[in-house]
Amino acid sequence: MARFVVEFGKDGTPPPEEGRLDAPAFHRNAEPLWQALSPRLPSEGALLEIGSGTGQHAALYARRVPHLSWYPSDIYDSHLASIAAWRQQAGAANLQQPQRVDLTDADWTWSPGGRLAAMLCVNVLHISPWRVSENLFAGAGRLLGAGGTLFVYGPFMCGGAHTAPSNAAFDASLRAQNSAWGVRDIRDLDRLAVASGLAPAEIVEMPANNFVLVFARANRT
Ligand SMILES: C[S@@+](CC[C@H](N)C(=O)[O-])C[C@H]1O[C@@H](n2cnc3c(N)ncnc32)[C@H](O)[C@@H]1O
Repeated sequence: MARFVVEFGKDGTPPPEEGRLDAPAFHRNAEPLWQALSPRLPSEGALLEIGSGTGQHAALYARRVPHLSWYPSDIYDSHLASIAAWRQQAGAANLQQPQRVDLTDADWTWSPGGRLAAMLCVNVLHISPWRVSENLFAGAGRLLGAGGTLFVYGPFMCGGAHTAPSNAAFDASLRAQNSAWGVRDIRDLDRLAVASGLAPAEIVEMPANNFVLVFARANRT
């Protein structure tokens, strides 16, 4: 499996010396995604980003929310090195060191621990096994504070149907590469959310047949 999918389903380019990887998709989705996220992000507290990849979103966004502590994470050494390199370049005091968070682990947690104000997961759920989706929502239920928000971005099916022929073709190509991968259905994610104490709150339509899904942590008793 490619360590970093620069264009989905194709091998990544080798990292430059300083380790900063570049994802073409970032340049397409960073500003539209920011438009969707920025009015909904908490202004303070801790945000854990799952599967930060290159670290480009973290480096760009953390500077725009200086009172929010941004915790990037990933599973691969090369990605963690890239995030660290982008972090160094960004020079944002609120952007924390990258950490390894693997959502195949049902008991995953984060450092330093405690309640999160928000979680962000961009383009991860379709290139990972279903248990990663399960563990994302279960973890959000455990770790988000009352009123906390989980943001999930990517291509999704709606009610059993693809939202565009291009997404159906993309889904088929993913499944051909790895039978455990695939475009997930919002209906199934909503079920995971509810079972974990989260309420499906908003579906924001994005360019190129993508969505931002917003889930709110119900008040804790
Ligand atoms: C397509 S890349 C997206 C990277 C970044 N979020 C972006 O949009 O540029 C998917 C990312 O998910 C990460 N990932 C894959 N499986 C994971 C897992 N089990 N737990 C956490 N992250 C995972 C990969 O290492 C990769 O960085």
